[in-house]
Amino acid sequence: MKYMSGNELRERFLKFFEERGHMRLPSASLIPQDDPTLLLIGAGMAPFKPFFTGKMKPPSPRVTTCQKCVRTGDIENVGRTARHHTYFEMLGDFSFGDYFKKEIIPWSWEFLTKELELPGDKLYITIHTSDDEAYQIWHDVVGIPDERIIRLEDNFWEIGSGPCGPCSEIHIDLGPERGCGKPDCGPDCDCGRFLELWNLVFTQFNQNEDGTYTPLEHKNIDTGAGLERIASVLQGKPSNFETDLIFPIIEYACKESGVAYNASPKSDVSLKVIADHARSLTFMIGDGILPSNLGRGYILRRVLRRAVRHGRLLGIDHEFLGGAVDVVVSMYGDHYPEIREKQDYIKKVIHMEESSFLKTLKSGCDMLDVEITKLQEAGKTELDGDVAFKLSDTFGFPKELTAEILEEHGMTLDEKGFAEALEVQRKMARDARDDKTGRPVLYNDRDLNAAELKVDEAAHAGKVMKIYPVADAQPVDAVSDGQDAAVILDVTGFHAEGGGQLGDIGVIKAPAGLMRVTKTKKLPDGVTYMAGTVEEGTIAVGDAVTYKVDTVRRSDIARNHTATHLLQAALRSVLGSHVNQAGSYVGPDRLHFDFSHFSQVTPEELAKVEKMVNEQILAAKTVTFEEVPIEEAKKRGAMALFGEKYGAVVRVVTVPDFSMELCGGVHVSNTAQIGLFKIVSESSTGAGVRRIEAVTGFGALQYVEGLEKTIGNVAAKLHCRNTDVEERLDVLLAETKDACQKVKALESKMAAAAASSAADRMKEIKGVNTLVQKVSVSDVNALRTMGDQLRDKTGGVVVLASVFENGKIGILAMAHKDAVAKGIHCGKIVKEVAAICGGGGGGRPDMAQAGGKDAEKVDEALQAAWGVVEGQIK
Ligand code: ALA
Repeated sequence: MKYMSGNELRERFLKFFEERGHMRLPSASLIPQDDPTLLLIGAGMAPFKPFFTGKMKPPSPRVTTCQKCVRTGDIENVGRTARHHTYFEMLGDFSFGDYFKKEIIPWSWEFLTKELELPGDKLYITIHTSDDEAYQIWHDVVGIPDERIIRLEDNFWEIGSGPCGPCSEIHIDLGPERGCGKPDCGPDCDCGRFLELWNLVFTQFNQNEDGTYTPLEHKNIDTGAGLERIASVLQGKPSNFETDLIFPIIEYACKESGVAYNASPKSDVSLKVIADHARSLTFMIGDGILPSNLGRGYILRRVLRRAVRHGRLLGIDHEFLGGAVDVVVSMYGDHYPEIREKQDYIKKVIHMEESSFLKTLKSGCDMLDVEITKLQEAGKTELDGDVAFKLSDTFGFPKELTAEILEEHGMTLDEKGFAEALEVQRKMARDARDDKTGRPVLYNDRDLNAAELKVDEAAHAGKVMKIYPVADAQPVDAVSDGQDAAVILDVTGFHAEGGGQLGDIGVIKAPAGLMRVTKTKKLPDGVTYMAGTVEEGTIAVGDAVTYKVDTVRRSDIARNHTATHLLQAALRSVLGSHVNQAGSYVGPDRLHFDFSHFSQVTPEELAKVEKMVNEQILAAKTVTFEEVPIEEAKKRGAMALFGEKYGAVVRVVTVPDFSMELCGGVHVSNTAQIGLFKIVSESSTGAGVRRIEAVTGFGALQYVEGLEKTIGNVAAKLHCRNTDVEERLDVLLAETKDACQKVKALESKMAAAAASSAADRMKEIKGVNTLVQKVSVSDVNALRTMGDQLRDKTGGVVVLASVFENGKIGILAMAHKDAVAKGIHCGKIVKEVAAICGGGGGGRPDMAQAGGKDAEKVDEALQAAWGVVEGQIK
């Protein structure tokens, strides 16, 4: 067995399969493309589902990858076992209807025993109970003895709906000293002695969304080998965490916390959690995910908070995750250049979230203290599940921490209530994910040659190649009157939606029918389709059609699209190069552009950006379009979209000396066609993401007309001319301010008068001046002001109650320090008094307030107050 670094192992694997005719592809983004069934990529095969099912043609029938994966299903186990991770890399080779078992089984054996020199006699094979074919190859061709081939019923691999099939796993025996010692210990025992290295899936079925299985048209291979696991074997380490793929991050966490590795099982768990989570965070943010409260963003947020919390358990009370990102980048940046390119950005996002979470931890502790005091006062020991959930969900204070702190006070958490509140929240998240309406249908266009289909914006005619009922992936021969359909033409003049830009609309005329196109989109293989409703007659495959695109609308879109490029360039120039596109909308009516930036864009900055864009427009620059190899485009410094997949040749859109972007969208040919560019709003859409909305051309005209109309309406209401509005408003505001001041002065005079007449009703009880009084004030602040005045006036104790303007009851007790010295405790007074009118509350000896429900009982409650006060005085 050879020692091998993780990076070398990855390279050796990819090369091995390249030498066997596989196309090496880079890891896909962790964000699934066109797959609403998944939140994150969690297996090497996940980005290739349409190739397995035959819906799309793969770029090669044999592919090999090392795929970034994130799985958080059993995040609680991370750090507690040798192998659980949220982030890991899966080495894989894939055959899309090409080779099958008799090739992959010997190859996998060869790679493990020849390339990696693993001892063949320590390798065990599992196969599906019914898989005689796999047995025969392992036994007769590879030569594995019968006792090392184990048939198991659950050797069947699936990932929710999608391609799946029986599988065969290769395990290594790490030696009896690593095992449970039971006589039946074997590859299906989970004691740790037998480690699964590689899973070969013989993908023959598709699991449909209703849970049934359909055989696939052709047989495939999908394999997955855990990079970290194999590295642990080759590097002779007891767990994945000690390999060179993770350990440097543990060392970093040791340095930050001053806690040594192996100091205690508990601190080791925290060190491992931090190391694991630092990788997930770096790669997730590097692929464009931002912390939020839903979907992927929520997963990211949870992972980050767990990492901070484990840092805290190790005694780290400062920000430390940015430093962990540096370590991850130094380890992985060569193979995954995207994280090196985005290093500063990733750290900035982490800083924002980490610093705010540290503040949350502090204020969460304070809030929990209040809750604990309440429980103590009420003589209870269980914290309401709802309260704990609110702390965690609204304020981000982790449940585990709540439970831990409660435990220190001999208290517990209402787990059932918490789970119920969580379920409500989860349902909301699920609903957000299962947005059926927005779900794309992947039309089966396998027998079309995408390279022969053309998009030509100037074209007016073409031939119908495929027709689909709009919600059905399988093609039909014709559609007629009233049906919703999607159509693929050999030459289309419709421009598809993409990169935030809406697609074209228009009409398609066939010899015997007419279809109104309401949407133009692209399939993942780049083929454009037009979707809409057949309004007349029939449209059939083979029809020669003519079409008319709504070009007025397209021109509006083009104006907004070129303006978006200008806006991005201006923002980078004014705010800095950390500005990255995080989403956009380019429609005929307006545009919005979302971008990473960590504070509000000031009005001065906005004005600068707007002016800069308008200067480019007024300079009437010719916009140029070029098709160039991607490497060259990058070399020239063209801006690319975050997380977007690009082909080998890309279109570069340039506004000379100002903006250069990779873009397939529609644009104006000269910037002057944009007309006025006007920013209409700037706002935040989430942590670290700002949104600018703007209008151009006719949209700008409409905007200005709207403003003019508003001013006209205001002027009419103020009975003045448009130009005098401001002056008239200043006068009105000054008058209002004056009136408000007069009202306030009157209110405070009335309160003072009420206070002085109330003071007359004071009684002396055992040497303490006591006043119990029903008053009538608007709210709790006014009650407190009055309480302050009366306490000072009496120098003893006052108990006041009022029914507020909102109908609620307020009860207040305040005592001078001499009265407190004689035994007065306001907290206890209000508690007893409030209880009579159906309320509760408490507080300090010198001041307390409470609420009540039953207005009719207020007099009775106040009457009782005299006795309560008397009872307290020593
Ligand atoms: N798709 C298989 C897995 O993830 C190889 O294990």
